[in-house]
Formats: sequence, C-alpha cells, structure tokens
Amino acid sequence: MNNKTKGESHLENILAKRKGFGGYRYLKKIDKDLIDFSSNDYLGLAKINEINSIPSKFVDNGAAGSRLLSGNKYYHEELENHLSGFFNARASLIFNSGYMANLGVLSSVPQKGDTVLMDELSHICIKEGVRLSRAKYFNFKHNDLNDLELKLQKAEGNKFIVVESVYSMDGDQAPLKEIVNLADRYEAAIIVDEAHSTGLYGESGFGLCCELGIEDDILARIYTFGKATGAHGAAVCGSEILKEYLINYSRQFIYTTALPYHSIASIQNALEYRKHHPELWEKLKDNIDLFRSNLHPSIPKLDSFHPVQGIIWDSSENTIEFSKYLNELGFDIRPILSPTVPKGKERVRICLHAFNSEEEITNLCHRINQYFQ
Ligand SMILES: Cc1ncc(COP(=O)(O)O)c(C=O)c1O
Repeated sequence: MNNKTKGESHLENILAKRKGFGGYRYLKKIDKDLIDFSSNDYLGLAKINEINSIPSKFVDNGAAGSRLLSGNKYYHEELENHLSGFFNARASLIFNSGYMANLGVLSSVPQKGDTVLMDELSHICIKEGVRLSRAKYFNFKHNDLNDLELKLQKAEGNKFIVVESVYSMDGDQAPLKEIVNLADRYEAAIIVDEAHSTGLYGESGFGLCCELGIEDDILARIYTFGKATGAHGAAVCGSEILKEYLINYSRQFIYTTALPYHSIASIQNALEYRKHHPELWEKLKDNIDLFRSNLHPSIPKLDSFHPVQGIIWDSSENTIEFSKYLNELGFDIRPILSPTVPKGKERVRICLHAFNSEEEITNLCHRINQYFQ
C-alpha cells in the first residue's frame, strides 16, 4: 500500500532541496541540562511562578470569540488602559502575538499609492505585513540614514518608515532620533517594532522610544510580551485614531479569538514585576559587559550592547560546526542560518540573561576563545 497522501511527494522534493543547501530546519528537543544561552527570556521572568501561576478567577478563562464579537472581556480593556499608562500612549490595542501585531499594522495602514521604506534587516513579520499591503515598498540599507533619505526623496503618496528599535539578530539599535528628524523633513510617518527593547530599556522597561522621549513622534509602536517580559502577546500603542483604525481594518485583530485571561494576567504581572525589580536589568547589563570583555578581541563578534550577542561566520557549515562544539560543552546555543540572516553572515546567536552566572559566562567565553586559537 502506498502510505503517502496525495501532495506529500511534492513537499518531500522541496524539503530535499533545502536539505541540500544546508539550511534545513527541525525542532530540536530541549535539553534541560544545557545552560540557557538561547531563549529570549532575558530577565528570567518566564521562570517566575508568581508571574505565571494565575488562579482562574473566571469560569470562562478563554475569551471564546473575537474582540469584535463575544471575546471583548473587561480584562482586555483593563490591560489596554494599563499599557497606555505604562508606555505613555493615548491608546493601546492588544494583539495575539508580535507577529500578528506587525502584520496587523503593516498590512492595513499603508494604502495603494503609498510608499513604505523599511530597514533591510527588518523581521520577517514586518516584511510579510508590508507585502500584504498594496503599497510600494523598498528596503534601505541597515541603519543607513543617507540611503533612507535617497529613498524618501523618491517616495510617492503617504510615506512610512519602518524600523526595529533593537534588531533581533544583530542586537544594535536604530538611530531613532535621527530618523525622527528625517521623517519630519519628508513628512513621513514612523512605525517602530520594540520587540527586543520591551521590558529592558527605560526605567521600568517601557522601551527605547519612551526612554528617548520620542513616543509622540511615532505613529505606531509595537511592544511584544514574549521576550524580556517572559509572557506572550503584543500591543500596538499610539493614538485613539490609530486604535479605531486597527479595530476597523486590521484583519489580524478582527478575525481571531482574543487572548485568554491567563495570558492577559501574566503580561500585567510581568510588567509590574519588572517595574519593581530594576536590578534584573542592571545584572543583565553587567553580564553583557562581562561577556564582551572576556572574548578575545580578534573574535568576530556582533557590535551589540544588548543581550543578543553573536559570533559571525561566513557559511552555514562553519556555523553549525561551531554551535555543535558549544552544545557538546553544555551550552544551549543555536545557529542562525540564511535565509533568516543574509548569506555569508550566518552566526551563532548568544542570548545573555540576568540569571546566567559569572562562571557560566566566563566559561563560555573561554571555550569560544579556545576554538579560535
Ligand atoms: C523584531 C521582532 N518582531 C516581532 C517578533 C514576533 O513576536 P512574537 O514572538 O510575539 O510573535 C519577533 C520575534 O521573533 C521579533 O524578533
């Protein structure tokens, strides 16, 4: 009996090609004995019981519908009010994930005849979102204001600049203040994905835009809660008009079941916890300094002062070999291959955490230095 379902062989052929190129993806079993240098749980909040063990106050923990139907519970609205205060915004709208929030904004806000200019290193959900809109779009060179300006000069219709405050694979920051100045001159709107600064930057973890005091210059700020906040979900912060617009036009908001109570409560708890524990971020900054100062200067490391660190390689094969070496020594570290990062810039991504001990970090650096000797 042929045990393949119709259509499977076609998929198998495509997968075989990917295997040939060395970029084959698979789900790796979590080895609890390895030291975590790979999760985005930068502050360790995902591991804290008082944030995540939430008594079920409601019979209907699940929202059981879209926010526009029966799923609009008072706990969503309470959290949105809280987020507006926390992120200093006139309004906030919760999305089910950062991926959906970016798709939701970028597919609905720019219109046919408009132009979107996005940093070439933007996360795939930004690129996908823009593709779903009917606007024209162009990449500008990473963090290159001259290239952005050249593209702004040619842009038609309403203009949108899209950046991440901190880049997910490089750990560097967008020059946000300069982008605000440029946008003013060309009457462009700015959209900032704060995924990797939420929970870290700013006094209470309110992100880079608030820390720089430019929040009113940004049309939409996207905060995600699955990284330093250790929970799940996302919010778009901006004006009441933006919120009303997204409620009316963002398909990723309209046609999906709202987050359950548990997710909403863990976001709220995590933000409160972070606010009262600034020492976590201080400890993490010390760990970043420790890591960078213990690596030999010749090591090709990322130019990052964020918990996202990395060692750059020139091919998938070298990156995989290096990550296997570190895994065998007990470190949970993952290779990041093309097409997730540009070809020739494959890397081993190293995420530092507040909970990584001094010994773990110096040991890791020692092993990296040894490999390059
Ligand atoms: C820059 C950036 N934006 C958005 C996302 C998506 O966020 P979420 O994991 O909440 O869907 C990610 C996650 O990898 C990211 O790195």
